[in-house]
Amino acid sequence: MKLYSRVTGTGSCLPPRRLTNADLVAQLMASGIETSDEWIVDRTGIRARHFADDGVFSSDLALEAARHAIRAAGVVVADIDLIVVATSTPDMVFPSTACILQGKLGNCGAAAFDVQAVCSGFVYALSVADALIKSGSARTALVVGVDVFSRLLDFSDRSTCVLFGDGAGAVVLQSSTTPGLLATDLHSDGQHNRILCVPGQINSGQVQGSAWLRMDGQAVFKLAIGVLDEAARNVLAKAGLSTDDVDWLLMHQANIRIMQSTARKLQIPSDKVIVTVDQHGNTSAASIPLALDMAVRGRRALPGHKLLLLAVGGGMTWGSVLLDL
Ligand code: ACO
Repeated sequence: MKLYSRVTGTGSCLPPRRLTNADLVAQLMASGIETSDEWIVDRTGIRARHFADDGVFSSDLALEAARHAIRAAGVVVADIDLIVVATSTPDMVFPSTACILQGKLGNCGAAAFDVQAVCSGFVYALSVADALIKSGSARTALVVGVDVFSRLLDFSDRSTCVLFGDGAGAVVLQSSTTPGLLATDLHSDGQHNRILCVPGQINSGQVQGSAWLRMDGQAVFKLAIGVLDEAARNVLAKAGLSTDDVDWLLMHQANIRIMQSTARKLQIPSDKVIVTVDQHGNTSAASIPLALDMAVRGRRALPGHKLLLLAVGGGMTWGSVLLDL
């Protein structure tokens, strides 16, 4: 019997500390950094973001999102036999955030590991979990996207510090005889590894190099615009479907202009595009599962709907997942 994977529950977590553009602008102006709500909204579509307090780690946000997803799926922690966490802001160098999450959940025995594909991380993690379920290696997977990018932000660099927020999103993915995930498509081009990076390393007990996020915004923008619609067409072709079959376009929430341009190229109307970037900012690996959970809990994305997930991130990495909810 052919096996497929299906999303059976979603969950998310936003840390309670919310900063509107006005809050952030006031903070930045107090330290002599010129910026404005108008610039941020006009160039990015972002109006607010959430920041985790000191002492709150990726595994803490992941735990809350995971608990919501597990409850929604109607499974128990002991049913989970695979935990994949997409993050670029792990709690520690090692062990993986997936293992730390596993310990906090009280699960014993599931395979647990992290996936590092920056803002494409959740699409990568979902694709890996799908493959392991289809092969019969796993039956009930917990797939999490989580990041606390506020820890990486240089608040003297106005071109990056206004863009990001913290959060987590999770899904339970279960083995099924009816297709849920219809197709996946993953790519990367390591030649562009320097246009978005945190270039520091740990050596002899010290961080060497810079541990701040650095980005060539225009190069990232150009690459994102160039690859996303192709990733969409690839995954639709693999599933034998067209953009007309898509109920919701759920893209990585980095910048409203990237999302609008991609939707236009795909001829997907704007009322089918899920947008949370205005309220969350760019939460990196968390952005797609967070937006998915909002759409499911807001009863916009309903059982039977087809969702096209599209992501691009540091690496540069990009990819897509087409799924039947
Ligand atoms: N407030 C006010 N002015 C600013 C700010 C700010 N926060 N940041 C930059 N500026 C200024 C610049 O200094 C520059 O001024 P100048 O003309 O006097 O030199 C001017 O605004 C234009 O700067 P650009 O970098 O050319 O602005 P651009 O229109 O390219 O927008 C942005 C910058 C929003 C980062 C854009 O390049 C972008 O969206 N890139 C995509 C990157 C992205 O989304 N990254 C998220 C992570 S990647 C990912 O998730 C895939």
